[in-house]
Amino acid sequence: MDRRKFMQNAAAVAAASFTAEMTLSQRAEAFEGVMIEGLPYHFSTPVICEPDRERSMAPPGSNIGPGGAPTSKLMAGMADPRLPPMPEKPTLLDFYRYRIPNPSHLLQSANYAMQNNMDEKVILACLLHDISVEGFLRTDHGFWGAQLVRPYVDEEVAWAIQKHQALRFFADDSVGYDYPAVYREWFGMNYEVEPWVQAEYDEAKNHRWYMSARLITLNDLYSFDPNVTDIEIDQFEDVVGRNFKQPKEGLGFDGSPVAHMWRTMIWPNSWL
Ligand SMILES: [Fe+2]
Ligand SMILES: [Fe+2]
Repeated sequence: MDRRKFMQNAAAVAAASFTAEMTLSQRAEAFEGVMIEGLPYHFSTPVICEPDRERSMAPPGSNIGPGGAPTSKLMAGMADPRLPPMPEKPTLLDFYRYRIPNPSHLLQSANYAMQNNMDEKVILACLLHDISVEGFLRTDHGFWGAQLVRPYVDEEVAWAIQKHQALRFFADDSVGYDYPAVYREWFGMNYEVEPWVQAEYDEAKNHRWYMSARLITLNDLYSFDPNVTDIEIDQFEDVVGRNFKQPKEGLGFDGSPVAHMWRTMIWPNSWL
C-alpha cells in the first residue's frame, strides 16, 4: 500500500472511533495508534523524547502484529510509511522538503536577509540557523545545528549558528536588536540565562565574526509571521549550491563525522 492510501485508511479508521468529548491530542493519539497497529512493524520512540522510560521500550507482546503475525523492528534503512520517502542521496534541500515539518521560520529569516542584500554567507546562516529546532533537537539547538552543518559550510557560518543561541538574549543597540519582548512572556520577567549561555555571549561579543551571528538574530526576530507561507526552499537553491558543499553520496552517507545525525533525521524512529 502506498503511503497516501495508508494514511487515508488510518485516518478513516481513527475518525470512526472519535467521540465529541475527545480533545485534539486524544484524536491525534488515536490516529497514531491506528497507524501503528496496521503495520507489520514495531515503532520505537527515541528514549530522549519519551519521559516515561518504560514506554520507549517494547512492551510485552509488541512483536505481534495484525492477525497474529510477528512484527519487525523498524531499522535504519527501512522506510517508515508514516513519513515522506527520501531520495537515496538526499540533498540539503530534500531535508527542507521532506523532513522539516514547518520550515517557514527558516525560509522567512533567509528571505529577510536576501531582501536586505546581506552577504550569501549570512543568508545561508539564516536558512540554517534553527535547522536543529525544526528537524532534529530543540535543546541547545545552536550547538546541534552548527555541528550538523560544520563539514559542509564555511566555518564562519557554523560559528554564527552556534553563537546565535546565546546572542538572542542580549540586546545590541548598534543594529537595533532589542531583547525579544516575547521572551518576557515565555520565560518570565526576571529570567536570567544559564552560565554557559553567558559564557558563549562573552566569547562572541569581541570575536571577529560577531556581526555574522548578530545578523542571524536580527533576521530571526522578524521571521515568525504565520501568514507568510509563500516562500519556497527553491528560492535559495543557488545560494545553497554556491555555499553548501553537498556530498555526492548524499547527506547521511558520506562517512563524515556527522553523517549519523543526518541519518537520524531520515529514520528518526529506527529501533537501533
Ligand atoms: Fe534559534
Ligand atoms: Fe530562529
